[in-house]
Amino acid sequence: MSYETLIVETRDGVSLIRLNRPEALNALNSQLLGELSGALDAAEVDEAVRCVVITGSERAFAAGADIKEMSTKTYAQMFAEDFFGASARRIEQFRKPIIAAVAGYALGGGCELAMLCDFIIAAETAKFGQPEINLGVTPGIGGTQRLTRFVGKSKAMEMILTGRMMDAAEAERAGLVSRVVPADQLIGEAMAAAAKIAGQSPLAVMMNKELVEAAYETTLATGVAMERRMFHSLFAFDDQKEGMAAFIEKRKPAFKGS
Ligand code: HXC
Repeated sequence: MSYETLIVETRDGVSLIRLNRPEALNALNSQLLGELSGALDAAEVDEAVRCVVITGSERAFAAGADIKEMSTKTYAQMFAEDFFGASARRIEQFRKPIIAAVAGYALGGGCELAMLCDFIIAAETAKFGQPEINLGVTPGIGGTQRLTRFVGKSKAMEMILTGRMMDAAEAERAGLVSRVVPADQLIGEAMAAAAKIAGQSPLAVMMNKELVEAAYETTLATGVAMERRMFHSLFAFDDQKEGMAAFIEKRKPAFKGS
């Protein structure tokens, strides 16, 4: 599959999706988000893909939704198109892990795209922000909800009401990113984490992802009960037998996804 706004390569169980609109700092337009949904559709059904990494350029992960494309739209158009709703749902419903590898600007929809991923690894150059207030609008792909869950009310409110950006060190302190790495090691570190995931049982990976997501969606008691059920259910699979046998026999497990 070839794309105009993405560069996609799959190796060692990992699909690396690079956003590629350098002339607009990877601003998210309909074409890019449509292609991203298509790339995720393909990755979802491709058994060779066990994990996805989404990244941008050195200068920008993505500088937001494309303001030039949005600026003249009417309310009727935004509502009828459900502007970017389908693309956001595509990422939310993706069952394999997605890592965001962020260098440079992750602003507005770019920050929201990173937060839609399962975790964020940031380069020291990363800058996160929700500057929509400067345009007279709110975030529109979950920023008010997800940033608040990541960093708490006070910091989220300040950033969203003032449009202030946060650098990588602050993002790590606040819990927005899992870790910060030197810029020249970003892709290597993200691909290494993805390869580690790709080597695990894909069934256990999907269940673990679903359970961590449930921590945001449900009560503690329901989430814990769900976890116990899924934990028990994994004993129906060969991969659990293989994983535990490999530990006892002091060898590396060979998971088959069955
Ligand atoms: C369209 C964009 C863009 C964007 C940058 N560009 N961001 N085009 N939409 N979001 C374009 C610029 O117009 C310019 O093109 C080129 O990329 C380089 O940008 P510069 O501004 O010249 O670069 P620089 O001075 O380094 O400033 C970088 C920046 C700034 C701080 C990131 O570009 C910026 O503030 N961008 C907008 C960020 C923003 O407001 N994002 C939120 C968007 S709203 P030309 O052709 O002029 O050279 C949003 C809502 C999501 O995301 C919800 C949707 C449902």
